[in-house]
Order: sequence, then C-alpha cells, then structure tokens
Amino acid sequence: MKKKIRVCDGGTCIYDGAMSIMRTIEEKTGLAPGQSNDEYDFDRCDCTGHCGMGPNVVIDDETVIHEAENDTVMEKIDKKEGSPLVEAVDVDIDAIMKDLV
Ligand code: FES
Repeated sequence: MKKKIRVCDGGTCIYDGAMSIMRTIEEKTGLAPGQSNDEYDFDRCDCTGHCGMGPNVVIDDETVIHEAENDTVMEKIDKKEGSPLVEAVDVDIDAIMKDLV
C-alpha cells in the first residue's frame, strides 16, 4: 500500500531542519513534494501542532515522526515508526472552567 508522507513546512519545523528532511526524502524516493509513485505519496503539510518536537513528518495521516533525522527518516517511514497523530480538538474552555469553579 502506498505510504502518504507529509513533512511539516511550518516556520518552526523549517527552522528545525524540515528542508533538509525533505531533500533526504526526495533523494531516497526520487519524488519532489507534490509527486507520487507506486510506493509513496510525498508532499508538505501545514503545522501539525507539534512545533516543539520538529521537524515533524506525518505518515498516512495517523503517525508522526518527531525530531526527524536524515539518517533514519526513511527507515522510520517504511516501518511507520512514530507516535500516534493526535488531532487538535475544539475545547470549550469557558464550559470547563464553569464546572471547575
Ligand atoms: S511548525 Fe511544524 S508542527 Fe508546528
């Protein structure tokens, strides 16, 4: 099954080395962001909300590699090795505070 690879190109991840990670993925897969082949679908993505642990690489919309490193990122992508991607949740903080106070 084709792996969907998304590298966060938010400011913090770029600062932490996302461009280098993208170049490594380009070299290993032969794909530029926005391209796909039989094995991979590769592109950039917006901030995933894990800015303190960048650069972040999301696999198949469900796993995220934090602090991706050039020498291990492809192995981790192929093994889908990372943390579960936790979606941002809308929280009604006023309702929560009302119950607590
Ligand atoms: S900038 Fe990449 S997770 Fe926020």
